[in-house]
Amino acid sequence: MADATTTTDPTEGRLLIAGNWKMHGTSASLAEIAAIDEAAAAAPHCDVVLCVPATLIDRAAGLVRRIAIGAQDCHVAASGAHTGDLSVEMLVDAGASWVILGHSERRRAAALSDREVALRMAAAGSMLRPILCVGETVRDGADWFAGVRDQLLGSLPEDPVHDFALAYEPVWAIGSGRTPTLAEIDDALVRLREVLVERLGGRGRAVPLLYGGSVNAANAAEICALPAVGGLLIGGASLSAASMAAILQAAEAAASVPA
Ligand code: PGA
Repeated sequence: MADATTTTDPTEGRLLIAGNWKMHGTSASLAEIAAIDEAAAAAPHCDVVLCVPATLIDRAAGLVRRIAIGAQDCHVAASGAHTGDLSVEMLVDAGASWVILGHSERRRAAALSDREVALRMAAAGSMLRPILCVGETVRDGADWFAGVRDQLLGSLPEDPVHDFALAYEPVWAIGSGRTPTLAEIDDALVRLREVLVERLGGRGRAVPLLYGGSVNAANAAEICALPAVGGLLIGGASLSAASMAAILQAAEAAASVPA
């Protein structure tokens, strides 16, 4: 029987620290990417991924030695008449090994349904490891989690479900400078873990659970110290190597504390 009560992260104390550059960055930013790669040397217990704009994937992947490069969305088809879209194969070919899927900004801009996110999860398959994003638009009433639960279940493909990470990103916390309380983050991640175990059995325990939404150098340490947190998804604060270095330092301290 799957045990849904586990609250500690299963990744043996490692933390997944993912940056989401959104629509930021040109060739002038390559030096910053190299500096983030350099900063990752001081965080050996962290796995670091930088999800850059598609235009930078190829050059960023050629530059980095310690961190992985990710994309920010993908199309379900391998190729075809889809102006402006990029397939999994193209992103892998460019050097991406991760992809953010179902980010609230993509869900909104492309009017993506949960079903479409699930199809993208399936398309990513084992070639691109997804960071699936879910989160409530507003924290309203006692059953705010019901919508998040539905969003997660609707965004998971039919079997097989390949390896992925799950980011809890309350939409109201993204780019706002506001975060849930630590107890609220922990509670949300524990509940998401229960849904994962319910849906995926024992495999649901191995999915890294990230928190995202206004993470910065000042709050990273306390968030990473929460037992349910398996990593971070960082937007604005991932753009600068200085703030990424500080966040990685905080994450490393939490990751290397023996359980
Ligand atoms: P933020 O963005 O850290 O700037 O709030 C997080 C995200 O959208 O992934």
